[in-house]
Amino acid sequence: MSNDIFGFTFDAQIKFRMIKSDKKIIIAIDGYSSSGKSTLAKEIAKILNYKYIDSGAMYRAVTLFALRNNLINDSNHQVDEKKLQDLIKQIKIDFRNSTERNRQETYLNNENVEDEIREMNVSNNVSFISKIRFVREKMVSFQQEMGKEKGIVMDGRDIGTVVFPNAELKIFMNAKAQIRAERRYLELKEKNVDVSYEEILKNIEKRDYIDETRDTSPLKKAQDAIELNNSNINKQEQLDWIIGLVKERIN
Ligand code: DC
Repeated sequence: MSNDIFGFTFDAQIKFRMIKSDKKIIIAIDGYSSSGKSTLAKEIAKILNYKYIDSGAMYRAVTLFALRNNLINDSNHQVDEKKLQDLIKQIKIDFRNSTERNRQETYLNNENVEDEIREMNVSNNVSFISKIRFVREKMVSFQQEMGKEKGIVMDGRDIGTVVFPNAELKIFMNAKAQIRAERRYLELKEKNVDVSYEEILKNIEKRDYIDETRDTSPLKKAQDAIELNNSNINKQEQLDWIIGLVKERIN
């Protein structure tokens, strides 16, 4: 059977298209760094013809903005919050489809920053930006605006708990840190990013810790979220599983 660009078979898409429904829902996919949230979220959004929003890309874009404006101290990651609060009004983030690269890309003030926000310098600083309350408030209000009409799949850390507490379907994803680091390493290697497996593992473990222990909207499973540990589950099985859940919610 042929595979599409995400590595899922078309079979799942055909299966889903057989169920017609006008009811649009919100799907919140939260979980740990590199647990496969965005791969699953993109694919289910494509099948449902829903909007897909990568909320992590928004925090990464703010981080890139802060780095470019020298608002983060290199050695201790201290953020100049006062300056950032003054400048945050200047930040405009949006997502545009690239037909050429067959993907959605993140724009910061009309500049395509999709590749730059995935670099290690941004990954190493994003937790320090995403724990700032006024940054979260601004991003959450953007995200809620994008989901007003429903028909959206959003992935992140606080989507089911804070952004869309009434989402019809909430998934919480996890996998062993070593497995997540390995997946991320292969992904970055494919993009020719020069980084070691050890560096990625360290970054993932550090981000897990900061995400889970921050005061504002820490990473935690919403009470009504369904947990998916995909350490030993392939992409096709995950997709079939989520399609089953969406069918239940839509009908
Ligand atoms: O999903 P990601 O790894 O690209 O996210 C980057 C960082 O942004 C991550 O370390 C935590 C933060 N984040 C967050 O705090 N809240 C979200 N809804 C999404 C991401």
